[in-house]
Amino acid sequence: MIIVASSNGKVGISAAMAVLRNGGSAIDAVEAGIRLVESNPQDDTVGIGGIPNLLGQVELDASIMDGRTLAAGAVATLRGYEHPISIARKVMEELPHVLLAGSGAERFAAEMGFQRGELLTEKAREVWEERLRQAMPEAVLANLEGEPDLRQWVKRVRESRRSGGTVNFLAQGADGDICAGVSTSGQGWKYPGRVGDSPLIGAGNYADNRYGAAACTGLGEMAILAGTARSVVLYLKMGLSLEEAGRQAMEDLHALPAPYLGEMNIVALDRDGRHAAFSNREDRTYVYMTGEMDEPEELPRVLVPGDTTADLE
Ligand code: GLY
Repeated sequence: MIIVASSNGKVGISAAMAVLRNGGSAIDAVEAGIRLVESNPQDDTVGIGGIPNLLGQVELDASIMDGRTLAAGAVATLRGYEHPISIARKVMEELPHVLLAGSGAERFAAEMGFQRGELLTEKAREVWEERLRQAMPEAVLANLEGEPDLRQWVKRVRESRRSGGTVNFLAQGADGDICAGVSTSGQGWKYPGRVGDSPLIGAGNYADNRYGAAACTGLGEMAILAGTARSVVLYLKMGLSLEEAGRQAMEDLHALPAPYLGEMNIVALDRDGRHAAFSNREDRTYVYMTGEMDEPEELPRVLVPGDTTADLE
């Protein structure tokens, strides 16, 4: 039994392990761990407290993949629901679809009995507004909804440190089943409707019992273009070790063009329960916990530097 998560998953990893210890599935564990991160208002990249889009709306993306069946569910640009990971799971279980977006995802959430709630915290609203005040004239800010050139503000307003924070959970139960889950509020001050890598199976999330699983945090556009999570699993299938597979997937990002360069991080797990994580930034960490451990352990990620410093300024 093992759980691997991005470092902001610390608040949920013990609960996820408790689910496995009590006989729950890898899917149950991933959902339980991520729900606690989504409910953490201190995390301004996931769920409640997430930095909103340019118009001040919190839009959430999430996905979950079952490595035993290769089924998956996902939601994108979901507003007004605290737990997109649970709605993504319901998409997987209740519909012959993988991904629901926007108003359709919200309709489905209501149909499944999820309660609507306010996701924009006072703190996140203040951060959002302060940044807009720095970057744009008062007259534009006063009429953002009616702004005819909203697109011009995306590059001027966004901040690289809030470009792609996300939570990743990978779990393997005692039965060997693997599940991967991802949840995020996406890029702060994004253009409304922007979808990152987190709800896109193969980009931000992939799991296959036969080889392993991977998930991403960071600038989602990079993982979309390179199919990063699926790449790690394909490299495992080709016989690379976990460390080689992660490094190779990170190196694939070096071919991307300038507007898409930024931070990228991967967590990965192979079918034998070996874990590793990778980043193109120094000092990044991840957490893991096995069934024998009382507490999670935080470890450094393997640094795979590259020409990815053009970033978002
Ligand atoms: N990695 C999350 C995002 O780019 O939306």
